[in-house]
Amino acid sequence: MKDKSWKPKRVGGDSSGIPSDMPVIELSIRSAECQATLEGIIRETDGVRLKESQDYGVPALVIIELEENPEDTFTLIREMGKLNKGTEIFLTASRLESHILLEAMRAGAKEFLAQPLQKQEVGDAILRFLDRGATQVRPGDGQRTPGKVLAFFGGKGGVGTTSIAVNLAAAIKKGPNNPSVVLVDVNQHGGDLPLYLDLQPTHSFRDIATDLSRLDQAFLIRVLTKTELGIQVLPSGYDDLSTGRLSPDCVEATLRLLQASFDYVILDCGHVLDLTTKKALELATIIFVTSTLMVPVVHRTKRILELLRGSGFPAEKIRLVMNRFSPSEQDVLQETEEILKQKAFWLFPNDYPSASQAVNSGKPLIDVAPRSAVAKSYRDLAGSFDEQAMKPASKGSLAGWLNPFKGRNVQSSPSGA
Ligand SMILES: Nc1ncnc2c1ncn2[C@@H]1O[C@H](COP(=O)(O)OP(=O)(O)O)[C@@H](O)[C@H]1O
Ligand SMILES: [Mg+2]
Repeated sequence: MKDKSWKPKRVGGDSSGIPSDMPVIELSIRSAECQATLEGIIRETDGVRLKESQDYGVPALVIIELEENPEDTFTLIREMGKLNKGTEIFLTASRLESHILLEAMRAGAKEFLAQPLQKQEVGDAILRFLDRGATQVRPGDGQRTPGKVLAFFGGKGGVGTTSIAVNLAAAIKKGPNNPSVVLVDVNQHGGDLPLYLDLQPTHSFRDIATDLSRLDQAFLIRVLTKTELGIQVLPSGYDDLSTGRLSPDCVEATLRLLQASFDYVILDCGHVLDLTTKKALELATIIFVTSTLMVPVVHRTKRILELLRGSGFPAEKIRLVMNRFSPSEQDVLQETEEILKQKAFWLFPNDYPSASQAVNSGKPLIDVAPRSAVAKSYRDLAGSFDEQAMKPASKGSLAGWLNPFKGRNVQSSPSGA
């Protein structure tokens, strides 16, 4: 055990001397006084640093202040522990009732800091945190390689972009490795994703956009809607009639934070290519352009593909997904691929009864029509990601991810196609 007497030392003359791999502490504190005290102590403590607004990684330690409704705080502690396994959580409160302490510990809080805060006590707790070796979130422990961002962008409205994003998210979640999945609606012109899962969310991107400076892991976890399927959802909160817009900065900060915590971040990007959507597509690991074989859709999909290629999106990042495909349309498909100068990577069979039954019941297709060809197609696509996730990715490149998808995946074609 180290010397228990805590002697704060200033690290360097300015922040430029602070190593960037120092354990980061995030504060989720409501009272200004408590916030200022903690900030002061952390700044004066060796070997740790405060989270800054551009830190998108998972913090090593989060200090949370008990909310009015303690249950909300316990839920937050549990969720945070589930998502970021290497992160330690401290709770601070003026209420010292034993049942609160007990519940907080059960939820996963490691230390309790009583208010009014005592400098020595807080310093000791941080030293113990450092002693425990939680100096950084370790690889394979909490710190995962960043999650895969799969973005779905519609060649036109109505082609099935939302259906595909929702159903693929559900199918990936049901995979053998039980990955963490978040489904995000980046559609500020008519975000209707919650309807597909029968959700009535109380929070959305709008809450984040209202004050971007508040965004951190704790805030993000509070804003997400949990579903029975085990996936989490971030609705857009915007539609054609709403005022205000979702800024590219807000999308970037949110997606980077989500990517640090979730294995899969699945985006419904709608079908309007504005600066906000473009930002989401830039952050995507793979962009799936969704289309059908209908002439007006193909016409617009061609424009979209040209715009993406012309904007410098790497060709290997763009995948063409054909929805509502019928085996009798093989010739049309071939012609369309020539027009689009792109092979279809995946073909989802046409099955309007199953698709609309899913939408109308607010459940994923793989649950309402598990034996349908279209449900199988979703499971196959999800399985291909899962297999790939098990293989070590080649460092610093997309290659490890994209190789299995080179060319069209014939197996996924509906029978006879
Ligand atoms: N594979 C499919 N076969 C038949 N209809 C489908 C299929 N996938 C989606 N649909 C239907 O297409 C319609 C539009 O889907 P939606 O996901 O809302 O499209 P978008 O998000 O592109 O506007 C819905 O009625 C949906 O049920
Ligand atoms: Mg949609």
